[in-house]
Amino acid sequence: MSDADTDPPTDAVPRRPGHPAPLAPGETVVLIDRKERRYLVALRTGGQFGYHGGTLDHDALIGQTEGVQVSASKGARLLALRPTADDWTLKAPRGAQVVYPKDQAMIVARGDIGPGCQVVEAGAGSGALTAALLRAVVPGGTVTSFERREDFADVARRNVASRLGEVGETWDLRVEDAAGRLGDLVCDRVVLDLLEPWDLVAEAASALRPGGLLVAYTPTVPQVMRLQEELDAAQTFARSETSETLERTWNVRGLSVRPDHRMVAHTAFLTVARRVPPRS
Ligand SMILES: C[S@@+](CC[C@H](N)C(=O)[O-])C[C@H]1O[C@@H](n2cnc3c(N)ncnc32)[C@H](O)[C@@H]1O
Repeated sequence: MSDADTDPPTDAVPRRPGHPAPLAPGETVVLIDRKERRYLVALRTGGQFGYHGGTLDHDALIGQTEGVQVSASKGARLLALRPTADDWTLKAPRGAQVVYPKDQAMIVARGDIGPGCQVVEAGAGSGALTAALLRAVVPGGTVTSFERREDFADVARRNVASRLGEVGETWDLRVEDAAGRLGDLVCDRVVLDLLEPWDLVAEAASALRPGGLLVAYTPTVPQVMRLQEELDAAQTFARSETSETLERTWNVRGLSVRPDHRMVAHTAFLTVARRVPPRS
């Protein structure tokens, strides 16, 4: 049996960045090299991290203060921190394409998703957005996620567990097609991140309480158009608005203060609409 099997988890809830305790076995850290490359590593006693810069014993990190700098076997320096949501989203294992942090933030903000909300999500994919939704709805809220692919649902389950720990009854992951099921639920937010969200508009209308919000995340213009046609035809949605979020990072080094040369120019469009009683 390896140490990884015998080391107990250090906490029921993974420690957030800034936690005062030293780094411990069972925790995940992000290692960042000189070129800003990031590596997620789950610490275990006697474990070893290997990459192109050589190897690093986990024991060199265990017991250290977050923010420690250590040297790998070939001399490269690595900064060790507890991962933020950004680190998790970009570096965690993925099955399906994930929703980027800038869009997670907008989905939570534009969807007015907060403590106590009852959210239904389809599809869960790699669980990146799910984790953001789960964090937003506590205390008192729930997230019900549909994912029709068992392999993706497994990735989502593992990612949510390693990122948030035991979420208990706050999360209900249903490994099945949302079609034919979503409409039986009752909720105040529906979040759709799948190829053909228009197929679920009628069921979203039936699940949502009046005043509730539908949030759909669609990468292409034809998807936005098709979705809007369906929202209009349903006559049970109002105040539909579509936006996209562009995030441009900057290089700030001495006198070289300018936008970075590269950016993620486009991810997806966000359409938000309010559920209203049918127009008479
Ligand atoms: C783009 S991914 C979602 C990524 C996810 N939001 C994340 O941040 O990790 C779309 C997912 O929807 C799932 N899916 C597509 N249609 C579905 C349906 N009708 N019911 C349930 N899941 C569906 C796919 O299997 C895929 O995993």
